[in-house]
Amino acid sequence: MQLDLTPSTKLFVLTGAGISAESGIATFRDANGLWENHRVEEVASPEGFAASPATVWRFYAQRRAQAATVKPNPAHAALAGAERICGDNFFLATQNVDNLHEAAGSQRLIHMHGELFKTRCSDDDCTTLPFVDMRSSFAELPRCSCGALQRPHIVWFGEVPFEMLKIKRNVQACDIFVTVGSSGVVYPAAGLVREISFRKQNGESCISVYVGLERPDNADEFDHVVLGKAGEVLPTLFR
Ligand code: OAD
Repeated sequence: MQLDLTPSTKLFVLTGAGISAESGIATFRDANGLWENHRVEEVASPEGFAASPATVWRFYAQRRAQAATVKPNPAHAALAGAERICGDNFFLATQNVDNLHEAAGSQRLIHMHGELFKTRCSDDDCTTLPFVDMRSSFAELPRCSCGALQRPHIVWFGEVPFEMLKIKRNVQACDIFVTVGSSGVVYPAAGLVREISFRKQNGESCISVYVGLERPDNADEFDHVVLGKAGEVLPTLFR
């Protein structure tokens, strides 16, 4: 299938781990995935960080080192190209914490699950802002000037994704909703497509498309499911 874009097309794209797979970043559900040798709660929850900040920082430091070596693929480039056509009518919400969308040229994007290359204070009352942090090794646990430990700027299990209101407003306003490479099991991201179903029931004209290797858990919510590698499908999806 092909989607016609013009400067007035309101295009919303949600990406998941699948879009970075062809760049060499393992997806979460892969057998050789990112959580290998670690229980998820151990490295991706506030409780895990409280129990062993050193384990958590070691895990994210390794991920930083690996992510620093990868490059965007044709799927990231295709989305940057779509943004060049739609301009301010383009909106990208990514569940990925890597920076490959930015590396491909995307500008209007939100990292709803945080950013691997950012760090912030672990004390929610501290006013120090999250900052860009490329460090991938630490002599000792990093601390904020307030004295509290710093933590990766990542949304962990049990925490609320960033900017959900802005994301929902853009889903409610879009003409075309595309999800790329997400298994559709982690909410609230997996529930965004339902908004398109509601809008259609109310007589609004909008369509939803899924692109990925296999049918996601929420496949039935989509108008179209295009099976294939993101790097092969996306470059010809937009016209
Ligand atoms: P998953 O690992 O759950 O799913 C990746 C999806 O990408 C699968 O459906 C694959 O079939 C598909 N896929 C793999 N290779 C692909 C390719 N080359 N082209 C297209 N699709 C491909 O990743 P997410 O759905 O992103 O949350 O996971 C959602 C969230 O779960 C993550 O953001 C993370 C995790 O827990 C947090 O860290 C909060």
